[in-house]
Amino acid sequence: MSHGLAPGFRFLDLGAGGGLPGLVIAGRAPSSTGVLLDGRTERARLLEGHVEQLGWGSRLAVAAVRAELAARDRRHRGAFDLVVARGFGPPPVTAECAAPLLRLGGLLVVSEPPEATGARWAAEPLSALGLEAVGPVAAVETAAGQAHYQVLRQVRPCPDRWPRRVGIPAKRPLYQVDATPPG
Ligand SMILES: C[S@@+](CC[C@H](N)C(=O)[O-])C[C@H]1O[C@@H](n2cnc3c(N)ncnc32)[C@H](O)[C@@H]1O
Repeated sequence: MSHGLAPGFRFLDLGAGGGLPGLVIAGRAPSSTGVLLDGRTERARLLEGHVEQLGWGSRLAVAAVRAELAARDRRHRGAFDLVVARGFGPPPVTAECAAPLLRLGGLLVVSEPPEATGARWAAEPLSALGLEAVGPVAAVETAAGQAHYQVLRQVRPCPDRWPRRVGIPAKRPLYQVDATPPG
């Protein structure tokens, strides 16, 4: 999966938890710089320990903050070539929190369950965030079996109104995944 990421790209792992996939990306792309973000302080503290142990502190930061707040922080808004997410939340929640963090042309790559289809990523509501799907859900062979993922691109700047306040993207999602509007 290349999608045109240049060496030295800047990425953010949304809901990094124990460090997947952010630590793997940092290991595979040693010229990249990144932020591992998780709203749970104890998880962020553990991540800081991993980053320190790996000696990656000069290029990898840990942000113990809710994504909705990070997206309002000038250091983070529109600052990333790539946002990755694995298990962060349902597609509309992930998209609403990720889009404001992406630069124009940046990519959102989200791990998907094996049975997922592109219908989970509804074109019309996502276009309100400036996001567009880049093809259908894709699969890649890994040592642990097949991994599925969806790629989206920030084709227009994300309007200022997104994301909504902390907790609102999950409480009132942009759309219902089971009742995806056509598009
Ligand atoms: C299911 S875990 C997945 C962790 C890791 N990406 C993985 O695949 O193992 C989801 C993580 O997202 C974080 N998270 C969920 N919503 C968040 C939000 N709005 N802001 C910041 N972190 C959030 C949780 O604290 C949790 O650590």
